[in-house]
Amino acid sequence: MKALIIGASRGLGLGLTRQFLARDWQIVATRRGAAPGLEEAARAHPKALRLEQVDIDHPAQISALAGRLAGETFDLLFVNAGVSSPPEVPLAKVADAEISRVLFTNAINPVRAAEALSGLVGPGGTIGFMTSLLGSIAQCNGGYELYRVSKTALNMAVMCFGAQAAHKGRTILLLHPGWVRTDMGGPQAPLDIETSTKGLAETITRHHGKGGIAYLDYQGETIPW
Ligand SMILES: NC(=O)c1ccc[n+]([C@@H]2O[C@H](COP(=O)([O-])OP(=O)(O)OC[C@H]3O[C@@H](n4cnc5c(N)ncnc54)[C@H](OP(=O)(O)O)[C@@H]3O)[C@@H](O)[C@H]2O)c1
Repeated sequence: MKALIIGASRGLGLGLTRQFLARDWQIVATRRGAAPGLEEAARAHPKALRLEQVDIDHPAQISALAGRLAGETFDLLFVNAGVSSPPEVPLAKVADAEISRVLFTNAINPVRAAEALSGLVGPGGTIGFMTSLLGSIAQCNGGYELYRVSKTALNMAVMCFGAQAAHKGRTILLLHPGWVRTDMGGPQAPLDIETSTKGLAETITRHHGKGGIAYLDYQGETIPW
């Protein structure tokens, strides 16, 4: 099996890369700048892990990546890249530039990247996105307003993406990793990276080839929209 993981420099993207390496997958993993943990993994797995560079906020970099990978076929494309925003600031008080940054990186550009790279995924392949439970409208209890809006928008953008005829037969996954101790999740989060990404890798593997679109947590449980 072969995967392309976008945003693997650290945190959950790096953890997911390690999980698939442990399952003997071939991986192309991207970073946008320094990524010491990922570079160490590449040194430890020179045949299985290849590194690429892309910042999803730069369309020219996405096109260039698609060009460099042309001719390869992946079973899984997984877009993990995402950013947080201050949790306690109500949407009405957030600066326009910050709204733009979070919405483009979390909602729009993951789908633009998937559009540009989806030709590399085989007809029965899987395209996954890292969303969040905080994007669930049904389970909203306030706080994290801009981040919630960005992940709800991602969910809708992915629904529209997955509804295209070109993706018939593919499996489209929107995955919530749990609340995890990463730079984004913070030290008080209950889950470690290994527990979350092991569950995510198992969930992806279980759904591979099933087709359709699903919004699931790291334990494979369906999340209400
Ligand atoms: N941790 C949690 O509790 C939690 C919960 C729900 C959902 N999530 C989601 O899980 C994903 C990963 O989060 P994390 O906790 O691992 O966060 P993290 O430690 O902050 O890592 C974020 C990753 O995204 C990359 N990234 C950010 N903007 C990018 C861009 N424009 N282009 C390419 N890569 C970019 C970062 O690369 P750099 O190293 O270059 O910055 C880094 O690899 C995110 O989508 C996040 O929203 C996390």
